[in-house]
Amino acid sequence: MSRTIRTYPDPVLKEKAKPVESVSREIQDLAEEMAKLMYANQGIGLAAPQVGESLRVITVDISGPERQEDLQVLINPEIELCEGETETDEGCLSLPEFRTKVKRSEQVTVKGLDLKGREIRIRSEGMQAVCFQHEIDHLEGTLLLDHAGRLKRNMYSKKANKWEKN
Ligand code: NI
Repeated sequence: MSRTIRTYPDPVLKEKAKPVESVSREIQDLAEEMAKLMYANQGIGLAAPQVGESLRVITVDISGPERQEDLQVLINPEIELCEGETETDEGCLSLPEFRTKVKRSEQVTVKGLDLKGREIRIRSEGMQAVCFQHEIDHLEGTLLLDHAGRLKRNMYSKKANKWEKN
């Protein structure tokens, strides 16, 4: 595996990711590597910018790294429909030791392409819906930090910049 998980303040995390033009072999390989990295790091979701690729690809598997039973790969994902409201305590592989509460929609329908380039729609709720929203945020360059208050954000930012220097 050549790619690694990028952590804040890596600038790729703040970029708006580019749409995938065609679901090529390279994109399929990228998605496969993302899923492996997600599982290896005990994650339930990952977005391509988190492995250094500014492209609109996400992987989600809320069954977790032990079970690996519900892998969803979406290319150029878009949220079509949101319903309800929920608040969850979220973490992110790109923000070690950071957690914050985020208001999200309770149910979302996400549209995108699968690994064969076919258009698919996924209706999701609960943790899976939250996960889709979190990963799609990454494609816009939005991190959990941006959902937190200024004080919390600044404290984490100072800490992360210090880690980077060491
Ligand atoms: Ni994240």
